[in-house]
Amino acid sequence: MRAAASRVSAVPVASGVHWIGAFDPGLRNFDIILRTANGTSYNAYAVRGSAGVAVIDTVKAEFAESFFARLESVADYNEISTIVQNHLEPDHSGALPELLRRAPQAMLYVSHQARPMLKGLFDPAEFAGRITGVGTSDTVSLGDRQLEFFNTPYLHWPDTQCTWLAAEGMLFSADFLGCHYCDERLFNDAVGDFRFSFDYYYSHIMRPFRGHVRNALDLIEPLPLLTIAPGHGPILRDDPRDYVRRYRALSGSGLHNTTAKTLLVFYISAYGATRRMAEAVAAGAESAATECGDAGDLRVSLYDIEGSEPQPFVDLIEEADALLFGSPTINGDAVKPVWDLLSSLTMVDVKGKLGAAFGSYGWSGEAVSMIEDRLRRLKLRVPVPGVKARLSPTADEFAACRELGRQAALHLLGRAEARAIDMAELV
Ligand code: FEO
Repeated sequence: MRAAASRVSAVPVASGVHWIGAFDPGLRNFDIILRTANGTSYNAYAVRGSAGVAVIDTVKAEFAESFFARLESVADYNEISTIVQNHLEPDHSGALPELLRRAPQAMLYVSHQARPMLKGLFDPAEFAGRITGVGTSDTVSLGDRQLEFFNTPYLHWPDTQCTWLAAEGMLFSADFLGCHYCDERLFNDAVGDFRFSFDYYYSHIMRPFRGHVRNALDLIEPLPLLTIAPGHGPILRDDPRDYVRRYRALSGSGLHNTTAKTLLVFYISAYGATRRMAEAVAAGAESAATECGDAGDLRVSLYDIEGSEPQPFVDLIEEADALLFGSPTINGDAVKPVWDLLSSLTMVDVKGKLGAAFGSYGWSGEAVSMIEDRLRRLKLRVPVPGVKARLSPTADEFAACRELGRQAALHLLGRAEARAIDMAELV
């Protein structure tokens, strides 16, 4: 074991476990989409067993020097038998290729999903025979203690996994249960109040994958957790279950009546035409619920987009089953508040929801097809053709709006009749 190469030092976390990561207090933006008022940390760990040392995750390439200095302060490279990379995003894997070179006897363990992604980091031929794919319940021995793997994909990449050190009740969770909050006091009972960072991180990174979050929680909740060691932010040693409970709450349903299907109609209107179309769409949806009797357990809501910022609507959309958007066409486009809301939908999982569009126009009417196109690209189903009306809608056009709402609702309730598709719709 060498002396540290710089003033940085490893931090003891538990018996035989050290934090060997790096602090990045100056970071103010992560992955373009996240603001990081308090910077971040790239957490990596060294776990010593009687038959070898495991390194769990590395750091962003620019911080490799302090990572290697901390590692060298607690282990020699020839002691490293095991490298676990729980997630391949460059903020965690930047120093991995160099670590594999410095510890040529070490085996690398990654999830099965991660294996084909490794070629983005290095030429796998360079480390041939040293890479093992693992899944839930697979283990690797360090002699007197072992590491166990949990396959927890899409938190937030397909490759993500968690690693469990039963001997210390410690879960190495990568991005899961982490946050961007840099504080050199390192432990949750010593750092400043980071609750806003924890929730912000969930809402911007994990929220679109909340089904996968719930699956991962199912795996880890039964564990006798003493410490959660995430890939970013404070190490959670004081009441780690509190953070698990927070994730359970954040990823759960906010609706009281979770059995009803929910259909939301959003609109914005310059002169009232699109508003009246929206009212007809909503009335058509309600009529379908009545038509279906007891089977029509449907909640229809109508919202004027002008009346809110996008965020509260995004919360509603996450829970909804159908999203119908009404926009006038102005200068050949849907209007900005509609695009603002549609662009916010990447924050939540909307795949498979039902979508539709409608709106009035003056002379061209592109908004409806543009919204439908956006909905399809977000992987919503768009089974009911949109309705557009020139200037003030006619009685027939209002009837078409009611039928749009009715058909959308029937689809939700499983009562829609099969429709013959015109080949022209497929081009
Ligand atoms: Fe912290 Fe997904 O990387």
